[in-house]
Amino acid sequence: MADTRRLRIAQISDTHLAPGQAEVDANFDALAAWIRAESPDLVVHSGDVTRDAPGVPEELDYAAARLAELGVETLVIPGNHDVGDNPGDGDYAPASPVGPGPLAAWARVFGADRFARDIAGWRVVGIDAQLFLSGLPEEAAQWDWLEETLAVPGPVALFTHKPLFRETPDEPADPTPFRYAPMGPRARMMDLIRGADVRLVGCGHVHQTRQVTAEGVIHGWCPASAFVIPDAHQPRIGDKLCGLLDWRLGADGSVDCRLVRPATMGDHDITELPKMYG
Ligand SMILES: [Fe+2]
Ligand SMILES: [Fe+2]
Repeated sequence: MADTRRLRIAQISDTHLAPGQAEVDANFDALAAWIRAESPDLVVHSGDVTRDAPGVPEELDYAAARLAELGVETLVIPGNHDVGDNPGDGDYAPASPVGPGPLAAWARVFGADRFARDIAGWRVVGIDAQLFLSGLPEEAAQWDWLEETLAVPGPVALFTHKPLFRETPDEPADPTPFRYAPMGPRARMMDLIRGADVRLVGCGHVHQTRQVTAEGVIHGWCPASAFVIPDAHQPRIGDKLCGLLDWRLGADGSVDCRLVRPATMGDHDITELPKMYG
């Protein structure tokens, strides 16, 4: 008899939570109401949980309290606005680099910066893509862990803050060095993905939503919860709107990904949110 178990994951991203941001909180309220009504098996948050935790670590506590309102098991990985950014291709040097201080602040509130969860015949894995090229001991430890973690016979759902690439894994480095996983770690990730049974890669970070299929793997870009970035400041790659992704995964490894836009969510323009980044 066919195994008809299905796993439903609500992927949320880029909530950029911090006290005193009414529009951002209202969008999170809308997202939380949808999650409570639909009751997925898991929520995965693909990073940028906070507005700027490296500068204001207390935002991690605020964000954790808000995530607890979802009432569903929630797995969280950090983004560049939570633990700092990784060096990118070329000479990109982030203003707020990933380092021991922000990582310790994250660990204090959220525990590990990666996860693996076996459920309904799937292994659901999240990595800390901010460690890429950092040279920190945590980066080497994560690679070792990931090799072991992906070596399972069943299907794998993989989540990362930054997309691995735009259209294809072998495209050249993007001129915007902070948008995608840098080239070396990208190649290493692709080797691991090809050697495993990864069926989907869910990412956030760009505040745009789209789906790309490469080498049989669906790469779903989750829209932000908090805001979009206007064309004057960011090229249009996918759809610029706020929402979440509704992943439905079959025990046979099938993948269905739907965009959800809760009715009361606003597509806030970051330039109209002065408390966000000034
Ligand atoms: Fe973000
Ligand atoms: Fe980000």
